[in-house]
Formats: sequence, C-alpha cells, structure tokens
Amino acid sequence: MIQSDVDLQPYNTMTIAARAKHFCTATTLQEVREALRFARAQQLPILPLGGGSNIVLTGDFPGLALHLGMRGLEFEALDDGVRIRAAAGENWHQLVMRSVEQGYGGLENLALIPGNIGAAPIQNIGAYGVELKDAFEQLTAMEISSGELITFDAEACQFGYRDSIFKGPAKDRYLICEVVLKLSSTWAPRISYPALEQYFAQHGLARELLTPAKIANAVIDIRNSKLPNPVEIPNAGSFFKNPVVADDQYQTLKEAHPELVAFEAGEGWKLAAGWLIDQAGWKGFRNNGVGVHDRQALVLVNPGHRCGSEVVNLARDIASDVKRKFGVTLEPEPRFYP
Ligand code: FAD
Ligand code: EPU
Repeated sequence: MIQSDVDLQPYNTMTIAARAKHFCTATTLQEVREALRFARAQQLPILPLGGGSNIVLTGDFPGLALHLGMRGLEFEALDDGVRIRAAAGENWHQLVMRSVEQGYGGLENLALIPGNIGAAPIQNIGAYGVELKDAFEQLTAMEISSGELITFDAEACQFGYRDSIFKGPAKDRYLICEVVLKLSSTWAPRISYPALEQYFAQHGLARELLTPAKIANAVIDIRNSKLPNPVEIPNAGSFFKNPVVADDQYQTLKEAHPELVAFEAGEGWKLAAGWLIDQAGWKGFRNNGVGVHDRQALVLVNPGHRCGSEVVNLARDIASDVKRKFGVTLEPEPRFYP
C-alpha cells in the first residue's frame, strides 16, 4: 500500500510537481497506524494530505506523504439541534450542503471552501463572518509518535483567526481523524459581512425570508464571482493572512489612504491584504506562468503549473512591495513543504 517516488501534482490544487519519497492513502485508522509505523521505522517525516488546497510544495518531500482518506458522515438528531460526526477524508463543501439540505443552519456561510474535514480545524477555516469554531464540538486525533487517539474539545484546540494549536504547540504532532460539529435548532442568519449584505440588498431578499439554503447559494455565487476554481486556474485560496495592526499604525495608514479597508479586531485592526496588494498594482499580474488573480488580488495563481520556487518568489516580491508602500508585513496563509 505504500508507494515510492510519487508525483504529488494531483494532490495539490496549486498543481506544483514535486515528488514524495513515499506516498500512501489510508482509509481506516488501522491503515493510518500501519503507515505511521512504516515512517517511524525509517525515521521519515510525515506530510498529512487532505485535498491539498492549502499547501505549497517548494521541493521534493523526503518522507511519507500520507493522504487521509477515511470516510464516514453521520447526522444525529438532538432535541436542540443536530450533531455531525465526520471522518477526516469527507469533503467539507459536501458536508455543508448535506446539513443545509436537511434544513440545519450554522455552516451555510462556509459553503464552497475547498478541502476535507480533517484539515478544517488546522487553520479554523472561516468565511463571510463565520468560523469552524462556531459549530465545533470536538475532534479525535492520532498522535504521530505513539499512534494513540486523543480527544480535543474547542478550548483545547485554541482556535483563533486562521489559527489553532495544530499550527502552534501541537504542530506536526497529530493527524486529525474525526471532527464532531453541533448545530443548534435555534438559527439566525449571519449576513453582516459586507459582500453578503450587499448581495441580499441587490437581490431584494428580506432578512425574514432567508433560509440556510438561500445563504449558502448567495455565498456560492459571491465566491464564484471572484475566487478562481482551482480545477480551472490552479491556486491555494488567499495566499496571505489579513494582517492585524495596532490602532496607531491603522490611524496613520487611514490618514494617508482614506479608502483603506479594515475591520476592528480586538485591540487592533484587521486590514484587507487583498486591498493592499491591489492598491500596490499587482492585481492581474502575470510572469512566467505564475501570477495574481485578476478578480481577487489576495489569490496567487499558477496557470503555468510552475514549481514552488516561482510561486514563493512572486509571493516574496509582493510582500516586500507591500511592506515598502504601506509598512505592513504580510504572512503567508498556506503551509510550505518541505
Ligand atoms: P491540505 O491542503 O491537504 O492541508 C492543509 C494543512 O493541513 C497541511 O499542513 C496538512 O498537512 C494539514 N492536514 C491536512 N489534513 C490533516 C489531517 N487530517 N490531520 C492533520 N493535519 C492535516 N480557507 C478558509 O479558511 N476560508 C476560505 O474561504 C477559503 N477559501 C479557499 C478558496 C480556494 C479557491 C482555495 C483553493 C482554498 C481556500 N481556503 C480557504 C483554504 C483551504 O480550503 C482550507 O485551508 C482547507 O481547510 C484545506 O483543506 P485541505 O483538505 O485541502 O487541506
Ligand atoms: N479587496 C480589494 N481588492 C482585491 C481584493 C479585495 O480591494 O483584489 C477588498 C474588497 O473589496 C473588500 C476587502 O478587500 O473590501 C475584503 O475582500 P474579500 O471580502 O474578498 O475578503 P478577503 O479579506 O480578501 C477573506 C478570507 C477568505 C474568505 C473571505 C470571505 C483571509 C486571508 N481570507 O478574504 O478566505 O473567503 O474573507 O470571508 O482571511 C482563504 O483563506 O483562502 C480565503 C479565500
């Protein structure tokens, strides 16, 4: 079941060609354990793979690329809502649409986010004013060093904006095997995100007539209007996080650039990185098969299926230009391997 010298191009939405020393797809916990034993015996690093929509391969991977393909999706009706138990290899968008079709609200703002369940807690996926943590109950993860199963509740996951314990103290230590979500039967639409509010105003849909399905469809429409479909134009979604800056830096920037797009975030302000990159003149840029999407400047694209270093060089040029023009540091959102 373990293959050697495998091309990872079909396993990342940036379509970067890079080889893994070893590769396997595990469809049961037993297969995951066996794969870990194989890697441990040879002291190989592990690259956990879901849908590959948030990784950038900067070279060949000298270990085991472990594609987590466990399936299973259960809806358990509760007195006050529903509990959803999903295995790591289930597709996120399909889970959202299944819940919406059954009339449950809570995940509709997160429709059409690519990738699998197992990766969703890693960066606490979020869109249109909602994050995974809002519906999260617990997850089960396998410790890579021991093969033991451990449960993490929401508090233990330390969720933040595009962040969790799995990007911090627990980085590279666990494989997420199952995620449990809970949706409440008391539902209210969350449509205060500017693009959503605008959409419903333009389409003349009154708030009291909204349903989870109508909101999911609106989110799908908005996303299709600006985000490239990775099947047509290779990309990894937002390439940078939206930077959070202190109030004094925000005030200085706002004075110099009255059109600056920013949202209050705790003590500071979250700036729209897409606006900064757009204003710096990069939107639609193309060079040597890589570029910046022409409808969303935060998304880098790889239509030429170029190697990771081309993508990384472009990202570096953009970040240093934004730093020079606005004094703001941009941090990549996807994970780079190796
Ligand atoms: P992968 O790319 O396979 O993996 C991502 C990271 O998680 C890697 O470090 C990987 O090693 C690790 N990992 C994967 N599975 C597991 C596991 N089971 N256990 C442990 N570690 C694991 N994200 C948002 O938050 N909001 C958005 O609106 C959004 N829009 C996007 C739009 C587009 C067009 C694209 C291409 C991406 C977008 N993303 C967005 C990013 C991406 O969809 C999410 O990060 C998603 O959760 C990645 O899932 P994946 O299965 O593809 O993960
Ligand atoms: N903007 C521009 N020019 C651009 C892009 C954006 O001026 O080229 C402006 C927009 O007009 C808007 C603001 O920037 O006023 C924010 O843009 P948008 O609503 O498209 O969202 P974003 O901040 O660029 C974030 C997430 C997305 C998520 C959307 C919706 C991050 C890093 N990105 O993008 O997530 O789908 O909000 O909630 O937080 C991802 O993580 O991969 C991703 C796509």
